[in-house]
Amino acid sequence: MSDSAPVVSKIVAAPANLLAPELPAALETGFPAVDAEHRQLLACMRTLRGLCDGLYTRNDCSGCSVGQRQLCDNNLVSLLGDLLAFILEHFQTEEAAIRDSLLQIVDRDLCEAHAEDHAEISTKVQAIVCALDPQRTVVLLRELDCLLRRWLENHIQMHDLVVARWMQREAAMFGQGPESAG
Ligand SMILES: [Fe+2]
Ligand SMILES: [Fe+2]
Repeated sequence: MSDSAPVVSKIVAAPANLLAPELPAALETGFPAVDAEHRQLLACMRTLRGLCDGLYTRNDCSGCSVGQRQLCDNNLVSLLGDLLAFILEHFQTEEAAIRDSLLQIVDRDLCEAHAEDHAEISTKVQAIVCALDPQRTVVLLRELDCLLRRWLENHIQMHDLVVARWMQREAAMFGQGPESAG
């Protein structure tokens, strides 16, 4: 493998449906508020992928002018700001819904693993904020893209959907509609 075929090429192979405007049906929790927020996450990913045309081909930002590098740095700062605000609210909503459910009693380990994964995602986004550098924006964009993809592909499937299914059963038992949770 040549050194110009970086690890990045594996990340590029994102399933095409993740770039579609709609959240893939397989990732819908059935809770409108949660699904709307997951769509927001997808929108963040699309914005990110539109920020640099060399997202998966450049090793750093040295090929761009100083002005362009500054612009890209500003764009990334703004994207991270939106994302951090969104993350806080989304994770708090999910964790509050879990705390209010019987799942907390039935499978505490699962609930803790869910919250730990939220904490890990937040920490990784904050690490990207700490690493901001106009010379390396493209590298940070790739890291963020990879993180968002894992969030969409793994976290939603392994955690949010499991909780959502439980909430739906709980709601059916107690006669409530799917308005909150995830
Ligand atoms: Fe979620
Ligand atoms: Fe979650």
